[in-house]
Order: sequence, then structure tokens, then C-alpha cells
Amino acid sequence: MYRETPHPIYLKDYRPPEFLIEQVELRFELDPEHTRVESRLALRRNPAATRGDGSLRLHGEQLTLMQVAIDGHALTPAEYRVDAEGLTMHRVPDRFTLETQVEIHPSLNTALEGLYQSGDMLCTQCEAEGFRRLTYFLDRPDVMARYTTTLVADRTRFPVLLSNGNPVARTDLEDGRHSVTWDDPFPKPSYLFALVAGDLRAVEDSFVTASGREIQLQIFVEPHNLDKCDHAMRSLKKAMRWDEERFGREYDLDIFMIVAVSHFNMGAMENKGLNIFNDKFVLARPDTATDVDFDGIESVIAHEYFHNWTGNRITCRDWFQLSLKEGFTVYRDQEFSADVGSRAVKRISDVRTLRAHQFPEDAGPLAHPVRPESYIEINNFYTTTVYDKGAEVVRMQAALLGPESFRRATDRYFERHDGQAVTTEDFVRCMEDASGRDLTQFRRWYEQAGTPELSIQSKYDATAGTYTLSVRQETAATPGQPVKYPFHIPLTIGLLGAEGQALPVWLAGESAPPAPGTRLLELTERAHEFTLVGLTERPVPSLLRGFSAPVRVRDDLSDADRMFLMAHDSDGFNRWDAAQTLHERLLLALTDDADHPIPEDYIAAFQRALRDPSADRALLAEVLTLPSETYLSDRMTVVDVDGLHRAHRQLTRCIGERLRADLLAVYHDSAETGDYVFSPEAVGRRALKNLALAYLVRAEDGEGLALCRAQFEAAHNMTDVMAALRLLTEQGGAAAEAALDAFHRRWAGESLVLDKWFAVQAAAPRADALTRVMALLHHPDYSARNPNRVRSLVSTFSNLNQVRFHAADGAGYRFLVGQVLELDPANPQLAARLLKPLVRWRRFDPERQRLMRTELERVLGSGELSSDVFEVVSKALA
Ligand code: PHE
Ligand code: ZN
Repeated sequence: MYRETPHPIYLKDYRPPEFLIEQVELRFELDPEHTRVESRLALRRNPAATRGDGSLRLHGEQLTLMQVAIDGHALTPAEYRVDAEGLTMHRVPDRFTLETQVEIHPSLNTALEGLYQSGDMLCTQCEAEGFRRLTYFLDRPDVMARYTTTLVADRTRFPVLLSNGNPVARTDLEDGRHSVTWDDPFPKPSYLFALVAGDLRAVEDSFVTASGREIQLQIFVEPHNLDKCDHAMRSLKKAMRWDEERFGREYDLDIFMIVAVSHFNMGAMENKGLNIFNDKFVLARPDTATDVDFDGIESVIAHEYFHNWTGNRITCRDWFQLSLKEGFTVYRDQEFSADVGSRAVKRISDVRTLRAHQFPEDAGPLAHPVRPESYIEINNFYTTTVYDKGAEVVRMQAALLGPESFRRATDRYFERHDGQAVTTEDFVRCMEDASGRDLTQFRRWYEQAGTPELSIQSKYDATAGTYTLSVRQETAATPGQPVKYPFHIPLTIGLLGAEGQALPVWLAGESAPPAPGTRLLELTERAHEFTLVGLTERPVPSLLRGFSAPVRVRDDLSDADRMFLMAHDSDGFNRWDAAQTLHERLLLALTDDADHPIPEDYIAAFQRALRDPSADRALLAEVLTLPSETYLSDRMTVVDVDGLHRAHRQLTRCIGERLRADLLAVYHDSAETGDYVFSPEAVGRRALKNLALAYLVRAEDGEGLALCRAQFEAAHNMTDVMAALRLLTEQGGAAAEAALDAFHRRWAGESLVLDKWFAVQAAAPRADALTRVMALLHHPDYSARNPNRVRSLVSTFSNLNQVRFHAADGAGYRFLVGQVLELDPANPQLAARLLKPLVRWRRFDPERQRLMRTELERVLGSGELSSDVFEVVSKALA
């Protein structure tokens, strides 16, 4: 907690560590109230660093130091100094053993960073700087050491004791305790350390690697969750195989363990050999989890597993390099999901996320480059920019290099940097070395914040048979970066003829046309002109296929062109994107003018799509889904909260009424038969069915609601149950209350399902939404100590219920800030994240701006803030 202004850390100040730690021996005497931690560190001066004043400073926070000794000699108080952030020893030898003994208090740790209690278990979370809450250490990722860890705890309360690596010894002690020693042969940074103690059960399986080694796989959960691990285990094995095939990466230890915990700030954590997960990303049964949950589990399991090579074997030199591991690992998990599912659908959902979250971040006061230059609190930099834009930056390099060359480049990266702590620069250099390409200008993607906007103008010259595309790029200033230089942008395009057939993209000056299809153009200047030849008719361009770069596009296509693309583009992503733009333009027009006509050909285009029996169900569902109100608000100069909500309802209702017969047909055709299957086809079918149901309900003719009630009663899978419950709750009234009560009774005690019960109420855009949310804060099942529960109620309301959160009287804002201030002393990371919806205050009308600013100022004025919340608020107001 800070009284004074906390100061920023700068990338330019990076210095190698003065000391290295070769070997770490830890002994934990675990107890929720008092845990004793003994550490023995083999330290030596780093030959690569400049010599300081002979002292050594170690990080340490919230530790009670009991003893400190160098080479077996206890230090006297005059020989060291302890403050709130560490331990300084005034004079130390060039090579020595440091022993410390500290005490910590897991049960009081509500920040969920360091060693904490979750239910009846104890677990750690060390990334980014949590290890310093376990013991005194050089808690920075460029200090990589080998760890041996002994865990001692009560045998009945904590029969399972886990840490990184392999178990090497087990002993039963006289006093009812037992001890297990773990040895991790791979040097690692401290943020990858983990331990878990609890009364856990494991689901076990095994995996034989490409080179024939057998790996033992274990997923540890509380006993009542043993029946919810199958999907996670299947996902893990798929991910292991895929990483061998696609990236040539084999697992290295003999055991791989996953633990599911119910109290967790983030999604999951890639600790070496011992991944610790938010249980939301492990536990699933068809009747408790939705398709979205199944999907999330598959990709998060894969993501954490993939970190073993991209993050653990090769780690980050410092936290400014976070995207080195996160951007690359997100790219890898996206590719995995694309390969095991539908590539177009995966791309659509990733781009939806990018546009809904990253683009606004890049356009707001918290904009920062993929490789930031400074931060106050590193926990605030686990952002969509570092993760998702970081993945786009890797994806663009893959596109520029092509698949073979990109694979050579990643092979080289793994070979050259194994065992090292490196930078994004090292990564790009491998891309260059393996391909011979010069990526000097491309590096700007790591350095410059902001989303480039491409303006694309086209001109067809019938006499010459040429089609000219004039492309300009422009990037708006971001905080601290008033001037932007042009980016190196891969622009993938195709051309369609009148029958929808692919035409060759033939550039003037080339002697012969290439094969018809997609072509990659490269932008490096602020403006380019591409003249395409050999065209006997005006083509329809398919621009930025597969979303080849994280940019906004302004083009001169007509609505008719977009309907044509929606029907004929061979690029599934662009078929969807054309539909989205049609929806978007119409919704924005309706927002400005409720009487704006809804064109017949728009309705007809979607009717044709619905009637096409061969259409991929999942893609069709995406095409028919309107952009969200939150996404649309980012497309307006001044957000018209109420107008958008009204327009959204108006168009939904109109589609429901006009396409009623087709929607009913689709609904009935897509009924579930037999047991739940999680496959791309089945997921697509359910998505389309539930989308049809949503339109039918919103047509408000009573029939949709009847179907909805029937579905709620009859469905056996959570996807269909939740789809119905969401719609019923949105409609309100006795049927909604009855369904909510039944659901609550049915799922009492299933924490993750109860999260859905809270969320569905928080998201319903009914007039009394806030009153309801505030009442739910006092529900016996609500707990401010469980981040999943807080997110399900508070974040759902403030992020997914735009019209009620932004109510004109400012009550939503006051509510959110009240929650943030209450949470901050207990869990700063969570509090800082909750604040995010207020950060975009400048986008609203003057009165809402005033109300939001007043609330942000209330935070800033309220004295003792965490550095997490302080950084977000002060930057939001700057
Ligand atoms: N490194 C984790 C991941 O993305 C995220 C995380 C960060 C988890 C910080 C906990 C704390 O896989
Ligand atoms: Zn990650």
C-alpha cells in the first residue's frame, strides 16, 4: 500500500544481475497459520556484470526474518538491513552459501500471490514477483537456478505434497507429519517455482513421446471433482502430440502435473512440471460446463503446456519481454485450436477478442507497446496487448516468412536459446537468420503502441483492364508516443470475379499471372499503389484475408459488394467479416435514426445464408451474430449507450420476426440427439440452434419463449440450459424467477456452476439490473474472497451489461468504485482489473464523462491504494 507516488521501472535501466544463484535448497514446514521457510542458496558473482559496492540486496516482502547466515556464520544485526522490500547484506564474498529462515502466514494471504490457502489446500502463485513472498531471493527472471524442495506437513490434512520436477524422497515423521522432497533438474527462474499441499485426488494417464519416453500425467483435484477431469486430460494429450508434430517440441521431465484450485487471480500458471489452474479451466462435465467452457479448457491446457518450451526452457530476460513468452504461446495455442477444430471459426473468435478488447486498449490511456518501456506494477501488464497483439505480431512474422522458413526460425530459436533468459529482439533475430529477411522495420510492432488504420481506395479501368488499390496507413498518437512511423504490414488479398470465382492477383510489371487465389502484399510506406492487371471486369476485392494484420480497415466497398463477399468469398474469415460490417453499418445507422429502413436485400442475404443446407453451422452462427454493444461503442466517436441498446433490440427483433420460419426450421433441425459430444460440428450446431432461439425469443410473439422454457426443462447439457436460462432471465417475470430458483437448487455446492447463476443475472439488461447485482452481493453464496465469484457478478455487470452499467445517473460507476475500494486492500490485482471499464471514460458524453471522472478521482483521493490500482487510475486520468 502506498502513501507516496510509486515510481516507474524503465526498460532502459536494465542491468544484468550482480550475483547468480546456482543451486537452491528449500524446506517448507507448511501450516496455514505459520509456515516456516528455510532456504540455502549457492551464490556467486556474475562475471558478466559490473561490480557494485560489495553489498548484496535480495527481494523479500511480508516475510518475518528469523535467521540469516553466510557460509554457516549467523549475521549480526549490524551486518544486514531489512526493509519492506528486501534484505541488504553489507558485505558478501564472491562465492558463498546463504541460509535464511523466515516465517509467513498463508491463511492471511488474500492477494493470492505467494503462498496462500484455497479452500483446504495450500498453493503458490509466483509470477511475476510472488516468490519474494516465500523467501529472500533474487526474484528476477534472468536468475535461473536448480531447485531442490522439501515439503513437510501434517499427513492427514495434507496427504499430497507437490513441487516442481521429480519426487526423490518421502518420509513419515514421528509427529504425524510427513515430508516429500522434489528435485527439478532444469534451471528455472523463481517465478516458475510452485508447491501444492492438500487432500487431493489424481486422475492419471500417460503419454509416449515421439522419441519413445513414457510420461506420467496427473490432474489433481478435490475428491468431489474427480468426475470432471476427462476433457482436460484429453486436451493435454492432444496438445503434447501437436507440439511434437507442429513445432518439434517434446516434453522433458518424466511427470507432468496439473492442479485445479478454486481461488486464482488469472486463468492458469505454467510452473515447471506443475501447472496450477483456475479450476474453471480444468473441470468440465457435459451437464456442468458449456461448449465455451470446453473450448476454454482445451486452449488454456494447451497454452500452459506449450509454455514448457516457450517460457520455461527459454524464458524472459526481464518483464518488459513478457510478450516473448506470452505472445508466442498465445500464437501457439491459437494454432493448436485452429488445427484441432475449425480454423476460420477460431480466427473469428480471436479477432473478435482483439477488436473488442485490444483495439480499445490501444486507443485509450493505458495504450502501451507489445514490449512496454516502463511500468509501475508489472501485474498490470498482463494485458490483451502483450498477449493477443503479441500473438498477432508472431503471426505476421510467420506470414512474412512462410511456413517452412518460419519453422526453421522457431527451430533455431529453440536450439540457440535453450536454457537462457532472452528478449523479443533475440526472437526476431532468429526469424531473420533463418529466413534471410530484414525485419528492421517490422520491429516497430514491438515498439510502437496504437492500431494502424488502413484506408483502401479502389479504381477499375475497363479499357486498360487494370484495378488499382491505393493503400494508406496511419496510426494515431498514443500516450508518450506523439509521432508514429509506418509499420511493415502483411496485407493478404484476393480478387473475385462476377461468378464468385477466384481471379489471379497479377501485379503490373509481372510477365505472367500467378495462379488464381490469395496473395500477400507488403506495406512499408505510408502510402502504396498496387496496380493489378489482366482484369476484364471490375473484380470484388477480398481485403486483409484471415485478418493478416492487427489493423483497422476503411475501404470503399458497397453493401452489395459485402453481400457478394458474404456469399462467395473462399476465405471463411472474410465471409464473416463482410457480414459483420453489414450488421455494424446498419446498427450504427439505426442508433442515429430509429427510423432508418432495414434494407430488404440485407434480410434476404441472411435468409439465403440460413437456407443453405451445406453451410458450416458454426460459421453460419458467427455470420448471423450481431456485433456486441460494447464492440459497437468502440466504433462511435461519442458512445450513445441508450441508442445502441435500442438499435440492437430493434434489429434483433426485426430479424426474429422477418426470418421466423427459417429460424424455427433451423432450431428444430438442430435438436440434440443422443449424448453430448464436444466436436466442432456439434458445437456449431448448438451455437446455431441457440442463436436461432435468441432471435425467436426476441421476436416476442410468445412462441420463442415457450421453446425456451421447454429447452430449459429438457436439456441435459449446460450449453443448452444456459442458453435458455440467459434468455429467460433477460425476459424477466415469474418464468425467469422460477428457472433461476430451480437452477440454484439443482447446483448448490457446484461453485463453477453457481458462478454462471450470478453472471446470468448480472448480464441481463433489465431496468433493475444494478439493484439485483447489489442484492446478490449479500447472497450467502457470494464471496469477495473468490475472484471467480467476484468476476461473475461485478465484472460481468460492468463489462457485459453496457446499458445498465452506464446508466445516466452514474449509479453503476459508484457501485464499481465501491467494490474496487473494498477489494483493493485484500486483492490489488483483482481490484485493478475491475477498474478497466472506467478507463475509457473519455469516449462518453459530457455528463457521463463527469460522473466517471468523479468516481476515478474518488479512487485516487482515497489514500492508501495498491500500486496496481494507483497505476491504472492515475494513467486513466492523465
Ligand atoms: N503466465 C500465465 C499464463 O499466461 C498467466 C499468469 C500471470 C498467471 C501471472 C498468474 C500470474 O499462462
Ligand atoms: Zn501464458
